[in-house]
Amino acid sequence: MTRPSACGREEATIRVIVTGGAGFIGSTLVAALLGRGDEVVVVDALTPYYDPALKRAALDAVAGPGLTVVEADLNTVDLAPVLDGADAVVHLAGQPGVRKSWGDDFVAYTRANVDATQRVLESIVRTSPGTRFLYASSSSVYGQAETYPTHEEMLPRPLSPYGVTKLAGEHLTGLYAESFGVQTAAFRFFTVYGPRQRPDMAFTRFLGAARDGSPITVYGTGEQIRDFTFVGDIVDALIAGLDATSALPRVMNLSGGSSVSVNEVLDTIAAVTGERLDVQRLDPVRGDVFRTGGDSTRAREALGWEPKVTLEEGLRRQWEWIRSL
Ligand code: NAD
Ligand code: UGA
Repeated sequence: MTRPSACGREEATIRVIVTGGAGFIGSTLVAALLGRGDEVVVVDALTPYYDPALKRAALDAVAGPGLTVVEADLNTVDLAPVLDGADAVVHLAGQPGVRKSWGDDFVAYTRANVDATQRVLESIVRTSPGTRFLYASSSSVYGQAETYPTHEEMLPRPLSPYGVTKLAGEHLTGLYAESFGVQTAAFRFFTVYGPRQRPDMAFTRFLGAARDGSPITVYGTGEQIRDFTFVGDIVDALIAGLDATSALPRVMNLSGGSSVSVNEVLDTIAAVTGERLDVQRLDPVRGDVFRTGGDSTRAREALGWEPKVTLEEGLRRQWEWIRSL
């Protein structure tokens, strides 16, 4: 079977470099790419932001024919041999976590989200200029947006140091497209959830607490709203971006269409799990925006992408995963 690949060539499979492929979104993408027969090279440093054993376990879970794993830091590894013959790079490596990005931790954010992104783009220009580059941006670039649903032309004004570094990485992708003709697209993911979600994120913490009968900690009133997006939907969009035969928009929102408050999420978790939740309220955390809500019209028009998984269904799947651990 043939299908159009990145760069518009007709071939049976494509060779994709997935940076951060041991992480939550990365490992889910790797499984999907291997599942359709693509060749995948993961480059991941297995950073200690959360337990690297979880990243090794994710790689073990998705391992299969066609997968090569390069355990290396993008800030230092020789990228030329890694990029050799690559059709595309999906750049998911990064230092995530909005609330941790203040103070002395900031250097980890600039290093992973800005310096590493620039280094990969430079290597593409020098060694494989035809390689498509898809960048994992974030709804956090918007900060407290002026209108909802927020579209890509709104002025980004991040509210956290993390958001500043993700926006810098996004600007770098645009810059290398304009100055060197690299085929780039930046996808602004809105709070992603589902099986293998990071242990610092809300749903993994809430569902783990529901399973263990331990307290759920809510920051602030719980009235803050997120446009939660199921990880399988994000992966579908990334694959559509890899397969697209025409030029992609520089920036696209990927939002799940489920703008709900944290308190409403807790009601759904109680219904899905059937557990009594012990909810404790803490102070709000600096850097947390009050609301996110994305307009994904551009991704729909460019990629034919629609989020398919409802919040309830996605939570059910994440609950099954949490119980299987
Ligand atoms: P994750 O932490 O699970 O995955 C990121 C991976 O990158 C990790 O495995 C880490 O070891 C690796 N990494 C970090 N620095 C590296 C370096 N210098 N060299 C090589 N590998 C390195 O995070 P995730 O939730 O899967 O997020 C993936 C990407 O998507 C990140 O760039 C994040 O900023 C972005 N994003 C995530 C969300 C979300 O809700 N999860 C939303 C918006 C954007
Ligand atoms: C998430 C990711 O962590 C970021 O990497 C990503 O860039 C961002 O989405 C994005 O969309 O740009 P966040 O929205 O904070 O950030 O995701 P969660 O950690 O799942 O938190 C969701 C909400 O739950 C937040 O309002 C947070 O304050 C709240 N929360 C989280 C709690 O009340 N308690 C917790 O224990 C954890």
